[in-house]
Amino acid sequence: MEYSIETLPFDKVQSECIVVGIYQDQQLTTSAATVDGLLQGIISKVIEGGDISGKNSETLLISPILDSSIERILLIGLGDKDKINRKLYRKALASSISALKTTKIKSACCALIDIEVSESDEQWKTRQIIEVFNDAIYQYQETKTSQESKVSLNNIQIKVEPDTKAKAELGLKQGVAIAKGVEKAKFLADLPGNICTPSYLAEQAISMASNADKMSIEILEEIDMESLGMGSFLSVSRGSRQPAKLIVMNYQGGVKDSQPIVLVGKGLTFDAGGISLKPGAGMDEMKYDMCGGASVIGTLQAAAEMGLKINIVGIVPSSENMPDGDANKPGDIVTSMAGLTIEILNTDAEGRLILCDALTYAKKFNPACVIDLATLTGACLVALGRIPSGLLGTDDALCDDLISASETACDSLWRLPIWEEYHEQLKSNFADLANIGGRDAGTITAACFLSRFTEDYKWAHLDIAGTAWRTGAKKGATGRPVPLLSQFLIDRENA
Ligand code: BES
Ligand code: MN
Ligand code: ZN
Repeated sequence: MEYSIETLPFDKVQSECIVVGIYQDQQLTTSAATVDGLLQGIISKVIEGGDISGKNSETLLISPILDSSIERILLIGLGDKDKINRKLYRKALASSISALKTTKIKSACCALIDIEVSESDEQWKTRQIIEVFNDAIYQYQETKTSQESKVSLNNIQIKVEPDTKAKAELGLKQGVAIAKGVEKAKFLADLPGNICTPSYLAEQAISMASNADKMSIEILEEIDMESLGMGSFLSVSRGSRQPAKLIVMNYQGGVKDSQPIVLVGKGLTFDAGGISLKPGAGMDEMKYDMCGGASVIGTLQAAAEMGLKINIVGIVPSSENMPDGDANKPGDIVTSMAGLTIEILNTDAEGRLILCDALTYAKKFNPACVIDLATLTGACLVALGRIPSGLLGTDDALCDDLISASETACDSLWRLPIWEEYHEQLKSNFADLANIGGRDAGTITAACFLSRFTEDYKWAHLDIAGTAWRTGAKKGATGRPVPLLSQFLIDRENA
């Protein structure tokens, strides 16, 4: 999809369809009124006829329009003019793209920037148009015989007033970079586990890094991890025929010695549970257990494309978790890189076993802060559903910054506590700590486990078990939390 900023008047715009908004109570937006004036009141007449009321997400295509350079108009209901917030704006955008998608229209001019949205400017609105549209037109085709696109649309012009062009151009640059990062994360996640193995993920990261400016990459092999003492990570990989990889991407957009922001993403390319085997129903979805890693790769790509002037390190521990004669057994005790011994009471709590060594490794970068993201616990789905990602962390300022970024990016978070009291649940009779904390507060005890390895830096953890992919008829990856992390990095650059 091509996205561009358009400042020409409506009668000069080269596009097959102009998209304008109408408010509830038959009120036109400025753009709708202008187009109405150019076309002898056609929009007013349609509204008077009662074909559209202006409720948020309503759509109506007016086509064909004769004797005019404007071929079609797509009307989008916005709802009450005074109540449009970020969520309602995005909802209206989503209905616009779903209406456009079902037609044969190839190019559209989106004139939805002239809508007042609380706390939002032209830059934000431009970005959202691109992010919402691009998300909706994504199609997974890699492993289908017919690679034919079901969407005709391939060109979107975003109509702005000349005096706001600079803001919109910045929004365009950010929007395209973030949308492509999301697309990359979705693509990697939707691939099946027999294609997207740890080696494949490493190769994809290498090709991403080689196409990006100021990015270097290193892949640590199992022998490297052995010499580093990553006994916990390697114990998970031992049960799989696929060799584990530790992917380390280094983006140097800032001055040489400025401390990097480190992102650590769980890259478990298939989680069968190991000897504590998962039940069969829905197990296919455990190909998505690498979504944290995919989002780290997507976010680094977006940051490099935006040319952010900060340093960022992305670390993706990648492995499978399979049952095997050599796999971890319940009761086994392993030694982590940090030196702490871990009693593995359930081999299905493997995410924390690979993350803890990656989090210890992160120390070598002298991080400004470390954020890890992982499809870590089914309990997070029980607690929060599929709306926000879980946020847990020991640094309040970092957590506040993440929440603020999540609000701007419309990629929501909800914080859960990791109080000292919960650590009791991880006590082991035979090792320094156990890898599970029982039925209660599963998301919290998982974060408590990780926190034992993050004491030397500012740290926050995102549990994306409920938000990284959709289940059911619309099964597919979401690319979350690439938008949130990209916003967080933009905010840090501006800080
Ligand atoms: N990858 C899973 C978590 C998961 C499950 C994410 C379902 C999304 C949907 C993780 O490795 C896991 O299996 N966690 C266990 C932990 C338990 C054994 C303490 C879980 O959530 O059941
Ligand atoms: Mn598991
Ligand atoms: Zn897992």
